Amino acid sequence: MSTTATLNAAAAAPRRMTAPAFRARKRAEPLVMLTAYTARMAELLDPHCDALLVGDSLAQTLYGLPSTVPVTLDMMIAHGAAVVRGSRQALVVVDMPFGSYEESPEQAFRSAARVMKETGAGAIKLEGGQAMAPTIAYLSARGIPVMAHIGLTPQAVNILGGYGARGRGEAEYARIAADASAVADAGAFSVVIEGVVESLAQAITHAIACPTIGIGASVDCDGQVLVVDDMLGMFERTARFVKRYDSLADRIQAAARSYADDVRARRFPQAEHLY
Ligand code: KIV
Repeated sequence: MSTTATLNAAAAAPRRMTAPAFRARKRAEPLVMLTAYTARMAELLDPHCDALLVGDSLAQTLYGLPSTVPVTLDMMIAHGAAVVRGSRQALVVVDMPFGSYEESPEQAFRSAARVMKETGAGAIKLEGGQAMAPTIAYLSARGIPVMAHIGLTPQAVNILGGYGARGRGEAEYARIAADASAVADAGAFSVVIEGVVESLAQAITHAIACPTIGIGASVDCDGQVLVVDDMLGMFERTARFVKRYDSLADRIQAAARSYADDVRARRFPQAEHLY
């Protein structure tokens, strides 16, 4: 392909959302984010989302793992690259898995640089508040946009003791508010607030300069995120904060049952399916 043809093709393609453009949407139209883990799902969600999150929730949704703790950097990179290939306009944000960034800003940079180089994603997300602020500043100063994640942080399940809502007591409320200010001041371009009492999510959204993305937080956040498998109804049990927009598990089971009935009754394949 000639240089002109390449430039024309680039001009025709929709411009992909960037982290700075995402950040600039604070207090404007609400930001829409869903998780995606595969190229085809990314392709289906892309026209409707400002960002696609390659969440480490793939531990439970794809791999049947009991928590996000066992997820590896290689798993995140493989799925991150697939989501970038499947999408055209959404900002792709890849979760940093447990153990790949907490040790030091240098470790975080090495891991995050691999994610950015090997997936083509536009940003990474990491869990943690005040303790992660120096790392967020270090990555942001070195070309890696960071979405922070505070409140209920699933990678810390072994410290938190479960997945219950956070910020109910005064001390925890104040700590999470301080986490939000610390990560925003450190340069996070956006902050996911998960599973906190509503008044805390509202207070943080008013207090910090970058957009908040809520999940089990508040309708007043600057945007919302859900795990796509939850909102599609792939699982029997979901958290209170999930709204189901479909019952895909039931529909998949019905389709599988019809197929099995057809095979067993020798109704499939028929003439139109054969060569
Ligand atoms: O891993 C994930 O899907 C997430 C969202 C729940 C925010 O972190």
